Amino acid sequence: MPITDLLLPAEIRDGLKTSTFGQERIDHCSVIDSTNLRARMIADAGAPEGTIVVAETQLKGKGRRGRSWFSPAGQGIYVSVILRPRVPPSEATQLVLMAAVAAAEALLVHAAVPISVKWPNDILVGGKKIAGILTEMRLDGDRIDHVVIGMGVNVNTPAESLPPEIAAIATSLRAETGRTFSRAELLRTYLEKLESWYALFQERRFEPIRERWLDLARIIGKQVKIAGIDRTYEGEVVDIDPNGFLILKSPDGDVQRILAGDVSLVEAPPLPAGSEGFR
Ligand code: BTN
Repeated sequence: MPITDLLLPAEIRDGLKTSTFGQERIDHCSVIDSTNLRARMIADAGAPEGTIVVAETQLKGKGRRGRSWFSPAGQGIYVSVILRPRVPPSEATQLVLMAAVAAAEALLVHAAVPISVKWPNDILVGGKKIAGILTEMRLDGDRIDHVVIGMGVNVNTPAESLPPEIAAIATSLRAETGRTFSRAELLRTYLEKLESWYALFQERRFEPIRERWLDLARIIGKQVKIAGIDRTYEGEVVDIDPNGFLILKSPDGDVQRILAGDVSLVEAPPLPAGSEGFR
C-alpha cells in the first residue's frame, strides 16, 4: 500500500511551533537501519541540538536491551532527536523520563485513550505498549557531548498486522481507536512537548518532570517484579529518586535503588471470601 502521509521535512515543519527542534535540520530517510544510528553519526560530525532524523521504515530499529523495534513502512513514527544538554552525565537518565512524558502527552492531545508510562521508558495503553524510548549518550571526557533520544510509536498499524510475538503485549493508536492518525501532526506535537519539557529541564532540572511522570505512571505503592541486568527484584515501588531511578522496598524491608530493568506488575492475591471492599 503506498504511504500517503510521508514525514517529509516540509510536512513536519508546516505549523511546527518550536524554536529549535526540527527547525534547522531534519533528515528524512525512506529506509534506514536505525534513526538512532544515523543521529549518532551526524551528532558526532557536529549536527546541532534539535536536529531530527526521521524514517518511514527501519531495517534494524533498536529497542532497549538489545531488542528490535517493529518498524513497518509508513505506519509508525520512528524519530531521533539530538540534544546537547549541559548537565553532568549522571543526570542523563532523567532525559529518558522526560521523553516518555513528552510522548505520553503528545498521544493524549490526539487520542482519548488511557495512556500511562512505565518505568523507565514505555508508553502504554491499557497495559499494552504503544511507544518506546531509547536514549543513547556520547561522552567527551567527563562531560556529555550529545544525547540521542529515539522514539518509536505504533500509530496506524492495524491490530492484525502486529507480529504474533508482540501482539499480546503491544498495541497501536489505530488498534485502540479504530481511526487513523496524521503522523506529521503527532510528530509535531511530540517535538513541541519535548522542546518545552527540555526548556523546563534546563531551567528547573528534574523535579517538574518527576512530578508529571509520577502522575502519568500511577505506580507508587504497586507491587512489581523487575527483571534487572543480572537479577530479578520484587517489592513495592516507593518512589522515583532525584536521578530518575526506581526505589523499591522488598518484602523484608530492604530498600533498593534500581538503575535499569523491565517492570511488570504483580497481581494482588484474591481477597478472602467475605472481606471484599476492605483492601
Ligand atoms: C524500547 O521500548 O525498547 C525502545 C524503542 C525505541 C524505538 C525507537 S524507533 C526510533 C529510534 N531508532 C531506533 O533504532 N530506536 C528508536
